[in-house]
Amino acid sequence: MSGARVELRSVVRHFQAGGERVVALDGVDLTIGSGEAVAVVGASGSGKTSVLNLMGALDRPSSGEVLLDGVELGSLGADGRAGVRRRIGIVFQQFRLLGSLSALENVAAPLVPATPSREARQRASAALEEVGLGSRARSRPGELSGGQQQRVALARALVVRPVLLLADEPTGNLDPFTGRGVLELLLGARERHGATLVLVTHDALLASELDRVVRLHEGRVASDRGSISRRASPTGRRRPPGRD
Ligand SMILES: Nc1ncnc2c1ncn2[C@@H]1O[C@H](COP(=O)(O)OP(=O)(O)OP(=O)(O)O)[C@@H](O)[C@H]1O
Ligand SMILES: [Mg+2]
Repeated sequence: MSGARVELRSVVRHFQAGGERVVALDGVDLTIGSGEAVAVVGASGSGKTSVLNLMGALDRPSSGEVLLDGVELGSLGADGRAGVRRRIGIVFQQFRLLGSLSALENVAAPLVPATPSREARQRASAALEEVGLGSRARSRPGELSGGQQQRVALARALVVRPVLLLADEPTGNLDPFTGRGVLELLLGARERHGATLVLVTHDALLASELDRVVRLHEGRVASDRGSISRRASPTGRRRPPGRD
């Protein structure tokens, strides 16, 4: 399976907030190739989460087009959009796990009700193993550390076998060491699954480890820099300094 190609064409997104018109995205053109790993950086309020929400079919542009594998999301009905969302894995800064469910149930949740429950549990269990939490399947989020909760959230994103993996500051609430572990898992999972990865981060070092860094400024693409690591390594992954 190959990763999704994502395109934003002349995307504008504005909001009405307290009688004011807020322009979150002001004409964004961006194409992300199948299997690419792209970091989206920029100051707070520059539009990073807005871009991710559009790519994840969680939001619609005020004008312009968002395409996944050439299909314009605006042309899809509710069922079509739901179908697209089922193949997208999203990891948020705040984990967003359901506190009343076990780790296994949280991970299986995106598969319900389309997948038979036995298969859903098997896949959820495998996804938890993949992030190193096989032994904590029965724990509830409140019984897990922040880094463990984020790994559960990552397993939940992977269980759908995503063609597109979106992560919005997934390490922002973690200490640097734990954050590094989550990032390694995210990059490793992306390699194994062949998914396209879009990672929002404030961390310039993390960003530099991806194929490409897109910088937003006030709702526009301010720079779009390919990294040489893509050509240097077949996986597109640059090794962190001092680790070879
Ligand atoms: N639902 C909303 N209603 C009103 N304004 C919004 C809404 N969502 C985003 N905005 C505004 O759009 C702009 C871009 O927001 P966005 O969340 O995309 O920024 P960001 O780059 O993710 O910032 P941060 O790094 O702080 O998460 C901001 O000015 C924000 O206030
Ligand atoms: Mg944000």
